[in-house]
Amino acid sequence: MAEAMSLVVCTTCRLVRPEGMAAPDAGAPRDGARLSDALTAEGIAHHRQECLSACTRGCVVAFRGPGRWTYVQGALDPDRDLADLIAMIRAYAETPDGLVPWRQRPEIIRKNTIARIPPLEV
Ligand code: FES
Repeated sequence: MAEAMSLVVCTTCRLVRPEGMAAPDAGAPRDGARLSDALTAEGIAHHRQECLSACTRGCVVAFRGPGRWTYVQGALDPDRDLADLIAMIRAYAETPDGLVPWRQRPEIIRKNTIARIPPLEV
């Protein structure tokens, strides 16, 4: 049986917007906070954390758990990528070690993995 996993969501991230994409209104919630709120609305448990030190790749989350590889993911758009992120969360949760086969990872995940960190036990 797979060990428990946890998801950490940076709540202070700003989405790296492509040229021509409108900036958010002043005072609007940070994109990372919106991503966290959207996950909560979908019933996805996670930890909220200010800054995972990958700010130029926002929005950033990390998948982790005992005996699992940790993955740091970036470039997640809370409006565009929520379904793909949830698919990856479920795929990660189903593995015993956090290693989701490449072809099972949504494209946004495949293209925007910032780091993968081996389990402490390795
Ligand atoms: S603000 Fe999200 S990683 Fe720094």
